Amino acid sequence: MSAKITVIGSLNMDLVTRAKIPAPGETVIGGDLQTVPGGKGANQAVAAARLGADVQMVGRVGNDLFAEQLLANLTAVSVNHDHVTQDPQAASGVALIVVDSAGENSIVVAPGANGRLSPADVDAAESVIKNADCILLQLEVPLGAVLRAAQLAHKHGAKVILNPAPAQPLPDELLALVDVLIPNETETALLTGLPTTNQVEIEAAAAKLRQFGVGAIILTLGERGALLADADDVTYFPPFIPEKIVDTTAAGDGFVGGLSVALAEGKSLAEAVPWGNATGSLAVTRLGAQPSLPSRAEVETLLAQATSEQQQGVQQ
Ligand code: RIB
Repeated sequence: MSAKITVIGSLNMDLVTRAKIPAPGETVIGGDLQTVPGGKGANQAVAAARLGADVQMVGRVGNDLFAEQLLANLTAVSVNHDHVTQDPQAASGVALIVVDSAGENSIVVAPGANGRLSPADVDAAESVIKNADCILLQLEVPLGAVLRAAQLAHKHGAKVILNPAPAQPLPDELLALVDVLIPNETETALLTGLPTTNQVEIEAAAAKLRQFGVGAIILTLGERGALLADADDVTYFPPFIPEKIVDTTAAGDGFVGGLSVALAEGKSLAEAVPWGNATGSLAVTRLGAQPSLPSRAEVETLLAQATSEQQQGVQQ
C-alpha cells in the first residue's frame, strides 16, 4: 500500500529569472522570465507524489489564473486538492525568485491566499489528516493553522513532520507536538537562540531543540549532508554530490518529501535520511521548484549507486 501523506501548507506561483542577486539599491538585468509552480507546501506534496505516495494537499489559492495553473499541476502528478480552497478575496501566493550562475537563489514571497489559511480550514480537512501516515507542515501559512494541524495529527496518531521554513520563533506548544523537525542551520539558530557555526555548536543546538519535546531533529547542512539527533544518538549522513548545480530552489522541499515517503513506508529515521538527501540532491540539477523534483526511479538509482560505491570501498 502507498504511503499516505497530507501536506498542510502554501502554494505559490514562482516568477523566476536568472541574474546576479542584486545588492540593496542595485538594479540588474536578468534572463527570460519563467513561471513555475512552487510554494513550500505544494513542492513537498509534489516531491512525495513523484516518489509514489498517496498525497492530499490542504491550502488556499486565489480565484485567478495562477490558481488554475497551480491546481492543474497538482492534478497532473496525482496530488488530491479537494481541500485547497479557492478564495475570491485574495490573490494566489507568488514568489519572486532570482537564481544566480552558481544556482543560489534569493526569494521574496507575497503570501496572498496562503496567509488566510485558518484553523477552520484545517478542521474541515480532519478526515485526510486522520487517514495519513504523516503530515507535512512548513511556515508559509499562519501559525494558527499549523498548530491546529499538529493537534489533529497528534489526536489521530499521524506522525507530525515540521520544516520550520521560513524561520520564525515557534511556541513550545507546537514544538512539543512535532515528531520530526527538519530545520537548516539558520532556522536552528533562530529557534534556539544559539550559534550554529561549527559541529559542537550545531550538536548543542540540536540537543536544545530536543528539550522542547521534539521527537527527532534532522538538521540539513547543505553540501555537508545532514545530522540526525534522536533519543539514541547523533549521526551524520554524507551528502549526495550533484553532477551539476543549476538551481537550489526546492532542494529542502525535496529532502522533506523524500524523507517523509521513506518514513511513511515504514523505514527507520536512519534509513529515511538518505532518501531525503538523494531527492534534494537531484532537485538542484534542474531549474525551478516543482519541475525539478525527481521520480522514484531516479532516487532509487542514486541510492543504489551509493550503496554499490560503499561496498566497493569496503572491499578495496
Ligand atoms: O522552497 C522553495 C519555495 O519557497 C519556492 O517554490 C517558493 O515558492 C518559496 O515558497
